[in-house]
Amino acid sequence: MSNAEQIEYWNGDAGKRWAQEDNTMARLLSPVCAALLEHADIQGSRKAMDIGCGGGSQSLMLAQHLGPEASVLGVDISAPMLQVAQEKIALAVDAARLSFLEADASSHSFAADSFDLLFSRFGVMFFDEPVGAFSNMRSALSDTGKLAFCCWQPLAENDWTRIPLQAALQHVTMPETPDPHAPGPFAFADPQRVRSILSDSGFGNIAIESFTPDIRFGEAPNLQQSVRELAMIGPVSRLITGQDSEVMEKVFGAMEEVLTPYYRDGALLLRGAIWFVTADAA
Ligand SMILES: C[S@@+](CC[C@H](N)C(=O)[O-])C[C@H]1O[C@@H](n2cnc3c(N)ncnc32)[C@H](O)[C@@H]1O
Repeated sequence: MSNAEQIEYWNGDAGKRWAQEDNTMARLLSPVCAALLEHADIQGSRKAMDIGCGGGSQSLMLAQHLGPEASVLGVDISAPMLQVAQEKIALAVDAARLSFLEADASSHSFAADSFDLLFSRFGVMFFDEPVGAFSNMRSALSDTGKLAFCCWQPLAENDWTRIPLQAALQHVTMPETPDPHAPGPFAFADPQRVRSILSDSGFGNIAIESFTPDIRFGEAPNLQQSVRELAMIGPVSRLITGQDSEVMEKVFGAMEEVLTPYYRDGALLLRGAIWFVTADAA
């Protein structure tokens, strides 16, 4: 998908669905953001950009983490997600230190030297030319600035994608084998590729650490509902879009069978495999 297609995607039905689900995603991914903030050595940063900030929940966490002297600019291409972010900060005590910008982070003309931290929770894997995008953001970073983001490891390493996808594939065929580097949630799964993108974009001291938490997906009072929630995100959601209800029910049935052992305390507890990536401006 080109950047133009990404803009269409994140402003169309998919973006609107993400915006509606933002509270759920914020709850589910909040422990990941907390761990990334703990992991990255960013405490002294004063001017941060949150790349692909979506509904802004992690922008708020970042502002709180950096303290009262820091400001955070959330940048995103999705108008529906940014509307959620604006509504969220209207209620936040830290609102004055947070602002949002509707822009393509890969090409927007940011003023040189205007940030000392580039941060992202799962918002940097969607650029069609990653080196161009990171070079553009690097040019907005001070020479002592830092980069910290998280991205997904391969689909097959993530229980929350592998297990439901295997079940779904009993009833639906995969349209084609996707290009593993194509922009999308798993585009940064290969750490060697991430390293080379970042060093070609003007970053050094690159470190990539694995983080594998159990994540609470599909919070719901029973397994059936929980499975239907999980099917609305990730690769299964793309696979079942447009399928008739008979096929969908078969997919849900197969998912229920394999996911039964993972349903605990009102949610599916499934292992996520994540990279924590940190670097310095070189
Ligand atoms: C998976 S969502 C993550 C949202 C948020 N960071 C979170 O963790 O909830 C990816 C976000 O990246 C945004 N995005 C994709 N391409 C972008 C670009 N070129 N510039 C800025 N944002 C972009 C999308 O609109 C979307 O909000």
